Amino acid sequence: MTNPSYPNTRLRRSRATPWSRAMVRETVLTPADLIWPLFITEGEAVEEPIASLPGVSRWSVDQIVVRAKEAIELGIPCIALFPNTQPDRRSDDGSEALNPDNLMCRAIRAIKAAHGDAIGILTDVALDPYTSHGQDGLIDDNGYVLNDDTVGVLVDQAVNQARAGADIIAPSDMMDGRIGAIRRALEMDGHVNVQIMSYAAKYASAFYGPFRDAVGSRGLLKGDKKSYQMDPANSDEALREVAMDIAEGADSVMVKPGLPYLDIIRRVRDGFDVPVFAYQVSGEYAMIEAAAAAGAGDRDALVLETLTAFKRAGCSGVLTYHAAHAARLLNG
Ligand code: PBG
Repeated sequence: MTNPSYPNTRLRRSRATPWSRAMVRETVLTPADLIWPLFITEGEAVEEPIASLPGVSRWSVDQIVVRAKEAIELGIPCIALFPNTQPDRRSDDGSEALNPDNLMCRAIRAIKAAHGDAIGILTDVALDPYTSHGQDGLIDDNGYVLNDDTVGVLVDQAVNQARAGADIIAPSDMMDGRIGAIRRALEMDGHVNVQIMSYAAKYASAFYGPFRDAVGSRGLLKGDKKSYQMDPANSDEALREVAMDIAEGADSVMVKPGLPYLDIIRRVRDGFDVPVFAYQVSGEYAMIEAAAAAGAGDRDALVLETLTAFKRAGCSGVLTYHAAHAARLLNG
């Protein structure tokens, strides 16, 4: 039976079969697009589940080395490390961040000793896992985070991480001028090939709660981070942040959180010729897990759809707690 008034264009034609969908697909997600954030804790053979991040644990250094091996086998190119510093090592000035034998540095050295350059190690630069007040920098008597004094400490933290073997320094503190200061210090200390991935557009977000549980800063944090992290209402300002960090020597930039900020990712992608990464943060992970547990959606499908959305928005890659699971799905 023929229809004399058929549509000129049938977009459904190319969607009709799996082979055809594969042929016209514009965006492809692979394990190489994933960066896996991992939480480190003291001890030996320790796994500590994190209640607000179901399925995510803190691992002792020996176990982090095993997670890194898993990542290599899955084709994940890079892991991101975050320490849960023991309470008695936290202080007002976060000086444990400068200790060459702190948890972070021991983990970096152990992973490098076991796996060499088979995997990249990204390290977060900010003082919040080390301060007794949970802020990312040094505070004055009113709790205000001091910019320039903080940058001085972050520079030393970054060099400490690079000396331990970090491959990518990722400042997440949002102080002004820290990228240039860190780049200069890395060069002066001989780390010419250590990259900087700047958390360029990092928003003061309600989606970081479970992360603060994971690094143990939630109960400590006084006030909020709105005097340095960006206002979620702003978009043009993100472009200024990115431009500034590129001018100061960032190799790549990050937008954080992820899904609620896909518009920012797209603007950055269109405005700059620099690799853009997104951080699908802890609260986003928890939302997906909660939705799946409540039967509101299929977990695997939610994971792959959201990660594909980052690629479509223009990302080179995504930091996600689902990295290992997603890589397993993608590897079939
Ligand atoms: C620390 C830092 C945070 C995250 C990454 N680095 C928390 C914060 O800024 O309070 C959040 C990551 C996540 O929620 O998964 N500066």
